Amino acid sequence: MSRADMQKDPDEVAGMFDATAKRYDLLNSLLSGGNDKLWRIHMQRAVRPQPGERILDVAAGTGASAAPMAKAGALVTALDISQGMLEVGRERHPDIEFVHGSATELPFDGDTFDAVTISFGLRNVQQPRAALSEFHRVLKPGGRLLVCEFSQPPVSVVRRGYDLYLRTVLPGMARLASSNPEAYRYLVESIESWPDQQALSQWIRTAGFTRVAHRNLTLGVVALHRGRKPTEQTAAMRIAKHANDAPQPASEPQPGPEEQGA
Ligand SMILES: C[S@@+](CC[C@H](N)C(=O)[O-])C[C@H]1O[C@@H](n2cnc3c(N)ncnc32)[C@H](O)[C@@H]1O
Repeated sequence: MSRADMQKDPDEVAGMFDATAKRYDLLNSLLSGGNDKLWRIHMQRAVRPQPGERILDVAAGTGASAAPMAKAGALVTALDISQGMLEVGRERHPDIEFVHGSATELPFDGDTFDAVTISFGLRNVQQPRAALSEFHRVLKPGGRLLVCEFSQPPVSVVRRGYDLYLRTVLPGMARLASSNPEAYRYLVESIESWPDQQALSQWIRTAGFTRVAHRNLTLGVVALHRGRKPTEQTAAMRIAKHANDAPQPASEPQPGPEEQGA
């Protein structure tokens, strides 16, 4: 059966999700012990979708992450690289617009969306930092980014218990319940090699986002990250502050007191 490796070749990743699409939602609930519902509630509260807002849900899969936002009245575009996941999504959520595409080459103009969301998707993207730059490009100034992703429990005893679960319980359950248990070995490997909360926050800042913060869910098994694309005014203020903070070249004459006050 199909599985990708940690190179995360987009065709292999898409093929793997094609093969799991029909039972994806069910397996998700089973393997997370029902916690997926809780994580989606937290995500929905963090996004605060407003009626009429344009929201792009990247790596939307079968639409489970997009559906609550559409229900709140937002105009949601659900994008995914796997045709199999999109097919299931279109059947289950005929009211949502599903688009085939890649997170690193979004088929949208710049400054289009009020919010970009990605749930359990960024970890599967071959070039996640390029994807974050794309999210920044398609957001309107002031637009919000929300990333929900598996992470690393900060308390070591919790982390050890979670590692044990990932290496023993999860593969066993996947063998019993999934038609493609190999895909769940990929899941474990991709979680274990994913950056922690601080590193992902730094990637988000480097992509140009401000007001970057995160909160841990289920003791840090999952982290919910947020950021904002600066408004033009904020961006101008940041540039000005940066210029003021920069050391003056030694050869330049320094302004006298009267010039500073002018
Ligand atoms: C674990 S599923 C998450 C689906 C959904 N967001 C959810 O919360 O249930 C990950 C999804 O990421 C998609 N994906 C992986 N790489 C992608 C890429 N480069 N561009 C867009 N989607 C991608 C997969 O096809 C898959 O549907």
